[in-house]
Amino acid sequence: MNKTALITGASKRIGRVLAENLAEHGWNVIIHYNFSEAEALEFSKLLKERYPDQGFWTVEANLANLSEVESLIPQLVSEVGEFQLLINNASLFDSGYIKETDHQLFAEQMDVNLRAPFFLMRDFALLCKKGNIINFTDTRITANKSNYAAYSLSKKALWEVTKMAAVEFAPDIRVNAIAPGVTLAPEDKSDEYLWDLAKNIPMRKPVGLEPIIKSLEYILNNSHLTGQLLFADGGENLGQNA
Ligand SMILES: NC(=O)c1ccc[n+]([C@@H]2O[C@H](COP(=O)([O-])OP(=O)(O)OC[C@H]3O[C@@H](n4cnc5c(N)ncnc54)[C@H](OP(=O)(O)O)[C@@H]3O)[C@@H](O)[C@H]2O)c1
Repeated sequence: MNKTALITGASKRIGRVLAENLAEHGWNVIIHYNFSEAEALEFSKLLKERYPDQGFWTVEANLANLSEVESLIPQLVSEVGEFQLLINNASLFDSGYIKETDHQLFAEQMDVNLRAPFFLMRDFALLCKKGNIINFTDTRITANKSNYAAYSLSKKALWEVTKMAAVEFAPDIRVNAIAPGVTLAPEDKSDEYLWDLAKNIPMRKPVGLEPIIKSLEYILNNSHLTGQLLFADGGENLGQNA
């Protein structure tokens, strides 16, 4: 029987590439979305055509809304059954130094990037009971630059809870994290912006999607790995070139 994965924010960008890779390796995929319904439906149709023997579903939930978070996994388990992989990929990425951060900006980043993955992990452990959780954090967690203060704090905390969950949920569930670096420009910015950001990282160019896919495969294929963080960041976590 094929295994099933839930990927949050999977209709486009990194989440979509993760879903494509898992589908290629025989997984069924639940494509979660918030606003991108058309993209999610079109993507699931494409995957169904490409892999007719596998299951693909779409599910909508606003992860800023706690009741939608808390009903997501119970609803999926009753409709699709227990699944074996949860990828917390969906995220908000809004800028603001500490002095510029109001409670609304703070709450939005924390709710989507930390509170939602926290409760989805809890519900996966309670209802699915076995498998893998992968949390998407960010190479920024290694630095203390505060231009994305609330975002960075949410991702630092997500890494901390990854380790706690790895201990609590072992041995039935492995919990790991991937920290991308300069990978894709935000949708309102150009590739030039990305190359400018990447020029001072050790590998001196944007990371691309391949190291993220290879990190996903490494985690899934390494049955003793838990509580680990894989940096897919061209060495950025070590610091910048002069
Ligand atoms: N891109 C990079 O260079 C980079 C660098 C470092 C770390 N990362 C991490 O890698 C992961 C993927 O990055 P990405 O750039 O592909 O992400 P993204 O495009 O910024 O966001 C992915 C999805 O998150 C969903 N989302 C946002 N707010 C939501 C909410 N309130 N409820 C439900 N879903 C919500 C959106 O779904 P809808 O479109 O359906 O609304 C969006 O498509 C993220 O966790 C990010 O922090 C990325």
